[in-house]
Amino acid sequence: MTSLLVLNGPNLNLLGTRQPEIYGSVTLAEIEALCAETAAELGVSIECAQSNHEGALVDAIHAARARHDGIVLNAGAYTHTSIALMDAISSVGLPVIELHLSNIHAREDFRARSYIARVALAQICGLGPAGYPLAIRALVQHLES
Ligand code: DQA
Repeated sequence: MTSLLVLNGPNLNLLGTRQPEIYGSVTLAEIEALCAETAAELGVSIECAQSNHEGALVDAIHAARARHDGIVLNAGAYTHTSIALMDAISSVGLPVIELHLSNIHAREDFRARSYIARVALAQICGLGPAGYPLAIRALVQHLES
């Protein structure tokens, strides 16, 4: 069975109360439930994880190589800074869809640069929580085509 990892990075554990004018009021637990529903509908297996620590995210990407077929990654602010995450993705060779709740291209200039985009299959941003099910569907379609 196709298996996916949905990996969220720093500060996304605070969704629901964190800058609701930008990120809305949906919590991470609600997003993860949405991901689980989508996975069940598509008949794929899913694991959701979150960390505020760059090295833990690198470890999760490494571990995904043995357990998953692809990753939906919202790396939060590490998107804009982390060569280590970019290299981890290149090292495991799994397809990654980069996800952001907000439209990173319509915000501060520093958010428009993404190290993840250089190695990702695609980027979805600006659609809020609805981006997660879309990313899962796109990844499954990619893996099963
Ligand atoms: C984010 C966008 C990033 O720029 C920011 O640092 C985040 C969240 C998003 O989902 O819109 O933490 O990845």
